[in-house]
Amino acid sequence: MKLLITGGAGFIGCNFVRHILEEHAGYDVVVLDKLTYAGRRENLQDVLPDITFVQGDICNKDDVALAMQGCDAAVNFAAETHVDRSITDAGSFVRTNVLGTHVLLEAARKMCLEKFVQIGTDEVYGSAFSGSFNEFDSLNPSSPYSASKAGADLLSRAYFTTFGLPVSITRSSNNFGPYQFPEKLIPLFILRARNGERLPVYGTGQNVRDWLYVRDNCSAIDLVLHKGLAGEIYNIGGGNELTNLDITKKILSLLNRSEDLIEHVGDRLGHDFRYSIDCNKIRDLGWKPKSSFEDALRDTVEWYLKNEK
Ligand SMILES: NC(=O)c1ccc[n+]([C@@H]2O[C@H](COP(=O)([O-])OP(=O)(O)OC[C@H]3O[C@@H](n4cnc5c(N)ncnc54)[C@H](O)[C@@H]3O)[C@@H](O)[C@H]2O)c1
Repeated sequence: MKLLITGGAGFIGCNFVRHILEEHAGYDVVVLDKLTYAGRRENLQDVLPDITFVQGDICNKDDVALAMQGCDAAVNFAAETHVDRSITDAGSFVRTNVLGTHVLLEAARKMCLEKFVQIGTDEVYGSAFSGSFNEFDSLNPSSPYSASKAGADLLSRAYFTTFGLPVSITRSSNNFGPYQFPEKLIPLFILRARNGERLPVYGTGQNVRDWLYVRDNCSAIDLVLHKGLAGEIYNIGGGNELTNLDITKKILSLLNRSEDLIEHVGDRLGHDFRYSIDCNKIRDLGWKPKSSFEDALRDTVEWYLKNEK
């Protein structure tokens, strides 16, 4: 199979490239990535000889046509992803996440791809006051980031319904693990704690997130790529719901640092209180997370200490 992985130089994308090379010997992997601040060629350093790397923009038809040429399938990780940045500059999120996804879908339709996996997020459901959202629940995004991702999901579904493009969508919870850009909570707090710097926790710190180890997400996306049904959406969660304060304390404890480093700062605008998703559908497809949360968090801390650069 010749597989296009867009956004493959970013956090989840580069872990997925490695996963595919390890699990599917003989696959021809093409990575298309714009190399924004969040994507780094170095994230793929050890696997560059085994892939074709194209630096380009998913919003640019020529870049997409070049990278998708001859591919059987595509997985779209490329996106602007940081909620705080979407509050100060929503335009780049609409451009890449909505318009860029449209350029990819259109190219996939013209090139008759056998599978297109759109990587979405659980944030499209909005805050879960009780229970957990399943794939049939309505979308209620709060931030420009999640609204742009909801737009991409809807467009992807429309390409299945209207044109029969075999699209599947994954919606995962918060990922953590190696190669995440240190603006996101876990790598940011690991590096700040290591340096004895203050850890800025939004508001009371009682907001709840479900943490998923990135390698488990990669195996779920692989399953959706190969066995997921066209037109279907699959939630992928780690089953590790923790308050932001709890995860901060765990990181401090792993680094033997005092909780005095915690600093409560003004809350994020439109901050969702709790994300929670029902993952029975992906489990029925045969997936379950392999990693224990505590082991994965310890491995992640060790990785950042060894790979600060
Ligand atoms: N990280 C999470 O916790 C999480 C959770 C749920 C869903 N997701 C989704 O997973 C996907 C990957 O997330 P991530 O955390 O790896 O993101 P990331 O920010 O680490 O990486 C994004 C990658 O996309 C590339 N990119 C950005 N704009 C591009 C463009 N116009 N053309 C080509 N490449 C471009 C960047 O250079 C980077 O390599 C995103 O779609 C995100 O919405 C992430």
